[in-house]
Amino acid sequence: MKFETLEFDVKDRIGVLTISRTQALNALNAQVLTELGLFFEELNSKIDLCCLIITGSGDKAFVAGADIKEMSAVDKNSGAEAAQKGQKVFQAIEDCPIPVIAAVNGFALGGGLELAMACDFIIASDLAKFGLPEVSLGLIPGYGGTQRLSRYIGKAKAKMIIATGDIYSAQKAKDWGLVAEVVEAGLLLEKCMAIAKSITKRSPLAVRLAKRAVTDGFELNQAEGLELEAELFGQAFSSEDKTEGVNAFIEKREPKFSGK
Ligand code: CAA
Repeated sequence: MKFETLEFDVKDRIGVLTISRTQALNALNAQVLTELGLFFEELNSKIDLCCLIITGSGDKAFVAGADIKEMSAVDKNSGAEAAQKGQKVFQAIEDCPIPVIAAVNGFALGGGLELAMACDFIIASDLAKFGLPEVSLGLIPGYGGTQRLSRYIGKAKAKMIIATGDIYSAQKAKDWGLVAEVVEAGLLLEKCMAIAKSITKRSPLAVRLAKRAVTDGFELNQAEGLELEAELFGQAFSSEDKTEGVNAFIEKREPKFSGK
């Protein structure tokens, strides 16, 4: 599939998706959102990757939010529809069967932070900046920010970040648990590739089952989550990957997983 606002490369079963509107700090206009939706529709229906990295083009921004210049004509109804469209696209990212890493290389503001939080975890450059500044525009976060941020870092800190609209450093975001690791700007993609390579060495099937157990289990109570875990644990036992992984351990060799 050919996109105008997205670049996509694959190497060793690791995909790198770059949001590419450098001149607008990769702001999410209608076209980017539509293309992201189509990208994930295709990816989620036929997975042949082990891991996906999402980043922003240029060295200044991951994504500086939804496109503010498209907002002048938006009213109550079209505003709610725009939120639903963005939420649906970001839900498709959260539902992606393989791990999705947000490589945050600069500003991750508003819809940009919401995009990063729809990924499985965030690795940030030391120059990255985080915030939900929507209240400065007379708006609130609309692509999942009011819901995902509190789940990430707790209700009180989320309320402070949303109500102040302030912008925070990568280190602060890491202290709060929003960011998994902060790395020197020039090493960001290298670090994300190294993490992705670790993932590609493991059983693709087990990685997907584990992702489902954590993602789906997070919205359940503990007893229901444990039930889900037991069911997925059972599924792993019926896989060729489990036979290969256990045999490789016993035979003291590297496993060769098929993902089945
Ligand atoms: N939408 C549209 N264009 C944007 C943009 C956005 N969110 N963010 C930056 N741009 C554009 C600027 O308008 C500018 O374009 P021109 O050169 O044509 O004027 C270009 O990108 C470069 O930006 P700046 O000159 O502003 O760069 P800066 O270094 O001075 O400032 C910044 C960087 C602090 C990120 C600043 O651009 C900024 O505050 N951007 C807006 C951030 C924001 O409020 N995001 C939330 C949007 S609302 C939202 O996301 C709602 C939601 O929940 C879905």
